Amino acid sequence: MKGLVIQNAAEVVTPTGREAKFGPAMNELNRIEHASIVVQDGIIQAVDTAERIAFRYDLSGYECIDAAGQSVIPGFVDAHTHFIFGGYRADEFMLRLKGSTYMEIMADGGGIGSTVRQTRQTTEEELYRSGKERLDAMLAFGVTTVEGKSGYGLDLEAEVKQLSVMQDLARNHPLELVSTFMGAHAVPPEYSDEEDRYIDFLLADVLPVIKEKGLAEFCDVFCEQGVFSLEQSRRLLSKARELGFGLKIHADEICSMGGAELAGELQAVSAEHLLHASDEGIRALAQNRVIATLLPNTAFCLNEPFAAARAMIDSGCAVALASDFNPGSCFSHSVPLILALACIKMKMTAEEALTAMTLNGAAALNRAGSVGSIEPGKQADLLLLKYPSYKFLIYHTGVNIVQKVIKKGRLLCTNH
Ligand code: NIG
Ligand code: FE
Repeated sequence: MKGLVIQNAAEVVTPTGREAKFGPAMNELNRIEHASIVVQDGIIQAVDTAERIAFRYDLSGYECIDAAGQSVIPGFVDAHTHFIFGGYRADEFMLRLKGSTYMEIMADGGGIGSTVRQTRQTTEEELYRSGKERLDAMLAFGVTTVEGKSGYGLDLEAEVKQLSVMQDLARNHPLELVSTFMGAHAVPPEYSDEEDRYIDFLLADVLPVIKEKGLAEFCDVFCEQGVFSLEQSRRLLSKARELGFGLKIHADEICSMGGAELAGELQAVSAEHLLHASDEGIRALAQNRVIATLLPNTAFCLNEPFAAARAMIDSGCAVALASDFNPGSCFSHSVPLILALACIKMKMTAEEALTAMTLNGAAALNRAGSVGSIEPGKQADLLLLKYPSYKFLIYHTGVNIVQKVIKKGRLLCTNH
């Protein structure tokens, strides 16, 4: 085969560029009607009207996918998940339905601590098996690049176990995987009430090992009242930066405590959640070009107010949307739910939501140079939708309308 051609799409719709889109630029999509895409060796060669492509290329010998009546968009990038874990916490969800809060459950020994106990007891083989199953499920929703965090081990051995499983999956699974070390996800029982000593341990005995083994690109911390303070988060992330990790921070999820401001101060790549970010924090994100990764499925599952996406975009921030898929606060990787909540509840436009779920997600993973848009030179990560317009992503509310998923020019999944 000479290559692949996606022919006669009703439209190709994509943000453009090799970096995040900030503020009003999030609305700017490139839309070509009756379009074709030429791919060679997994890389996009040309995107143009079907007529011009037919004129420029001799397509005999190309594998051909007919996209008549279909909208083609970039593969989704889910830039925030915790998908490697043992066990489940369905009972906690039931408790929350009855009025218990996430932090109350955590303080009672449930929450992240419960998943840490279960993950420590789970074998690598089992973590690999369930992780693969979850990646397959994400792929069917059109996710072609995904981030995964550790943070359910909280000791050297179990953190390395989680990240090694991700490394094996990254090698064997067609979905592109980006790993984040999140040893500062909670305080483990061995260090209860000794957060500073636990941070010392991470700095001296864990971070350097993760670095040396090449097990993670990013470092993240749960900066939250009752978990890690601003100062502890600053200490960890500063060292992580010195070692060459990209920085992420779970900021202002449950309380407003200056996490967004800290992300600005450290010029983190992204700040996540931000349900309670202050106006000053939002300004700090915009000024320092920190991507605001918003996770509406978590706000929905916790029945908390949504992050102020409108104010953020109107203040010049780059917003990314992601799932936060995890066994506690959000056991959902549903992209249709993310998009519906973003547009209906957070007042984002459909165009902003598409940019947030593709190019800005890629930028939150330092991948905007290779994925996140449909342009010559980028990887051919493409979704063929069952309908002729990207508007159906929101309009067909909560429904997966992805029909075909193409990663690096390979057709990986067809939904019927
Ligand atoms: O992003 N907030 C911290 N971490 C996850 C929840 C993890 C869990 O509950 O297991 C989050 O919401
Ligand atoms: Fe999270």
